[in-house]
Amino acid sequence: MAIDQKAAQNAAHSALTRGDFPARFAWGTSTSSYQIEGARRADGRVDSIWDVFTGQPGRIRDGSSGAVACDHYHRWPQDLDIARDLGTNAYRFSIAWPRIFGDGSAPNQKGLDFYDRLVDGMLERGLQPWPTLYHWDLPQTLQDRGGWVARSTVYAFANFVDAVTRRLGDRVPQWITHNEPWCTAMHGYMDGMHAPGIRDLPSALQASHHVLLSHGLAVPIIRANVKDARAGIALSLHPIRSASGSAEDMAAAHRHDGLRNRWFLDPLFGKGYPQDVLAELERFAPRIEPGDLEAIAVPTDFTGVNYYFPEVIAHAPGEGPLDGRVVHKAGVERTAFGWEVAPEGMLQLLRRIHAEYGPRVLYVTENGSTYDDVVQDGAVHDAQRTSYLQRHLAALKEAIDVGVPVEGYFAWSLLDNFEWAEGYTRRFGLTHVDFDTQQRLLKDSGKWYRGFLRGQS
Ligand code: NOJ
Repeated sequence: MAIDQKAAQNAAHSALTRGDFPARFAWGTSTSSYQIEGARRADGRVDSIWDVFTGQPGRIRDGSSGAVACDHYHRWPQDLDIARDLGTNAYRFSIAWPRIFGDGSAPNQKGLDFYDRLVDGMLERGLQPWPTLYHWDLPQTLQDRGGWVARSTVYAFANFVDAVTRRLGDRVPQWITHNEPWCTAMHGYMDGMHAPGIRDLPSALQASHHVLLSHGLAVPIIRANVKDARAGIALSLHPIRSASGSAEDMAAAHRHDGLRNRWFLDPLFGKGYPQDVLAELERFAPRIEPGDLEAIAVPTDFTGVNYYFPEVIAHAPGEGPLDGRVVHKAGVERTAFGWEVAPEGMLQLLRRIHAEYGPRVLYVTENGSTYDDVVQDGAVHDAQRTSYLQRHLAALKEAIDVGVPVEGYFAWSLLDNFEWAEGYTRRFGLTHVDFDTQQRLLKDSGKWYRGFLRGQS
């Protein structure tokens, strides 16, 4: 694209205002418990699989852990002030299961008290609470009994959901059951990049089935405990592109889409597991009991989409479970993580989900970017992140304009935080965190989002 054409397009994106979006839109930021809370041993919290995993040599790029992270457990009032001052009206966070269920069978009241205070703090600041019930911090005690490969974890999750929604349901109508089941199952049990670090395809597929089943059992519990409840799930979804026009690459891309996207979307929307993937992976297929697929297909009130990047796939016999390989094409704009910057991919994805699955409502529950930020004279001039945000909001508006029922957007993330296997080497925040001093500093991108939300962009 010619430089002046690109400059004109950028100017158009930055001219976008909040008024261009529906009036009752949820504008938020997103975080998760293990990535920000720290306070590993506070108030009866037990270890999660991430406490154990981060303790194993070589698992985390910088050898770090979330033991302290942003110390949000103690600094939450300041962090919620940042969310309020940004002008957001919603805040997505997650509830740490190991704070609520430790060794005993009764819920830990001190753990519940924390989220009680946090929710009240949000409401006082005009922030709609959007809790996620599982964002990857499984109690290690449950891992010791098989983790998500064991069906008993499904019932333990139901029990946890019951305790949490009983306690917070009087103030919190909207609930997200799971964050990114693909990651829980595939990074946790297939490639081992995430806790518990297992590399075994049959375990991964069984885990994915149990995660989906636990979602299916959680939704009716949420509805029973919460008046006017709205329940949904947040999926990590990717537009999948073929590396070339060859029939082989196109078939490989379709297979990849099967495991990345359709393996989760199809059963959630009542279509069962995709037949083509089941045929390919027949030997490893999960054990499904009668009634499971019906439970998973429980109608939900919304679908959350975490969108980051498209994937380009080439046919590669013997590679991966489905003979395919992710290709990194040259000359493509990328974030510091190497993820392709493709706002039109978000538009394409949202349109596809709307057309093929027809969820009642969609939310972009995560979208964001990581760059090598530097603090200079008390500021972080992260122009690339601002541009990323602007261009994705423009794509979001296009999706709404063509009739996709999107009702909210949550930027990942409110704060720089513990980026799983990457430790603290990847900063996704609109707010910079100095992990030595715990000082927070709003980046230029955060200032732009604030201006946009306050109608000053
Ligand atoms: C997906 C996950 O939900 C979140 O925990 C993670 O930090 C971001 N994407 C960025 O990788």
